[in-house]
Amino acid sequence: MTRQHDIPSYLVPKENNPWSVYLEQIDRVTPHLGALARWVETLKRPKRILIVDVPIERDDGSIAHFEGYRVQHNMSRGPGKGGVRFHQDVTLSEVMALSAWMTVKNAAVNVPYGGAKGGIRVDPRTLSQGELQRMTRRYTSEIGIIIGPNKDIPAPDVNTNEQTMAWMMDTYSMNQGSTATGVVTGKPISLGGSLGRRDATGRGVYVAGCEAALKCGMQIEGARVAVQGFGNVGGIAARLFSEAGALVVAVQDHGGTIVHDGGLDVEALLAHVAQTGSVVGFAGAEDSIAPERFWNVDCDILIPAALEQQITRENAAQIRARIILEGANGPTTPEADDILRENGVLVVPDVIANAGGVTVSYFEWVQDFSSFFWSEEDINARLTRIMRDAFAAIWQVAQDKDVSLRTAAFVVACTRVLQAREVRGLYP
Ligand SMILES: NC(=O)c1ccc[n+]([C@@H]2O[C@H](COP(=O)([O-])OP(=O)(O)OC[C@H]3O[C@@H](n4cnc5c(N)ncnc54)[C@H](O)[C@@H]3O)[C@@H](O)[C@H]2O)c1
Repeated sequence: MTRQHDIPSYLVPKENNPWSVYLEQIDRVTPHLGALARWVETLKRPKRILIVDVPIERDDGSIAHFEGYRVQHNMSRGPGKGGVRFHQDVTLSEVMALSAWMTVKNAAVNVPYGGAKGGIRVDPRTLSQGELQRMTRRYTSEIGIIIGPNKDIPAPDVNTNEQTMAWMMDTYSMNQGSTATGVVTGKPISLGGSLGRRDATGRGVYVAGCEAALKCGMQIEGARVAVQGFGNVGGIAARLFSEAGALVVAVQDHGGTIVHDGGLDVEALLAHVAQTGSVVGFAGAEDSIAPERFWNVDCDILIPAALEQQITRENAAQIRARIILEGANGPTTPEADDILRENGVLVVPDVIANAGGVTVSYFEWVQDFSSFFWSEEDINARLTRIMRDAFAAIWQVAQDKDVSLRTAAFVVACTRVLQAREVRGLYP
């Protein structure tokens, strides 16, 4: 009898994958790059991909193997920077796309990094704390040959957090023989983490949202907000909008979708999620609705803050919001982008809207190198300034070229990356 073997996901092609979405975004920006277009192929090829096997001993004595990835998309402007995701649907294509969006994002807000991303194909909810720690440490050791404070600096992403970063920092440091706080960002404050980092991505989404609302003549106070994903990004963004007087009327997470026409009590919902792991069963909700109905909720601002490829040609036309703030990376497909533009919906793209996290990661890295730490007010003020300046610059390009904010952000970012590539020249 022939034995059946599991084929690693990187050998199984999937249509309409995140990398093909990214490639289409690059095709859309190419006509706007002038003479730099001759370098555009460099953006379509990740510089380096490392696929690793991550074996661990389970608590019951069995051995489990997981697929692990670290992709360094482009390092023309500086060391690699980008999160690490633990999710059962992680694929090579996804990590490639996420690494490329990091290249674009870092250049769009002008922090001196290239783009990178990592991930493990695992549902971390199926692991004990001990198993999670062993998997994180083995993964860090495996990718240790290409990461480092001056080479590539991981950070949290979906299902990873300060604890994950602490284990990564410790593992890298043990292998190096000296404490290297600057190898990851998003660390606990006690290990060289930065004040304000935990809230930074959500705060950036909020600042971008305020700028966009100003351009649309919309008041934040009383605005109706719907949020998909209630984790680090979506939860914090919802809290800040609610504190500013907006009504968070719908929230969806992996468990379900809840609504309240008069606005959910966000603080109470955060406490419920911290306790139960999901928004499902929240006593303060008016109703729960089928997941597909989320896109048709009556709202002014929609914040996708979960996973990529959520807003597609199937649901884009149903969206009633005037502004979409992309907290997640890659939540909107190019076809959906076209439908939304036709319908007059302003999409503030991921590479700007969620750049607050990497911006404060940059502050953390700088603080670690100088061993001198800033106040939270200082960090939030600098973050707000960078976000506003980046938004204004991209808004201007969008007006000048009559293109979407996404294409405008890609014009600004790709120009910076390709200028760096050109002036450095090709080696040898
Ligand atoms: N954490 C950061 O600093 C950061 C920075 C930039 C971008 N992002 C992006 O933001 C997004 C969310 O990241 P996070 O750090 O908040 O992750 P997280 O793990 O803290 O939260 C993820 C949320 O998404 C929900 N979710 C998962 N699958 C879902 C599904 N199928 N439908 C609806 N909801 C679902 C989860 O229930 C959870 O509420 C990701 O796209 C990530 O790449 C995160």
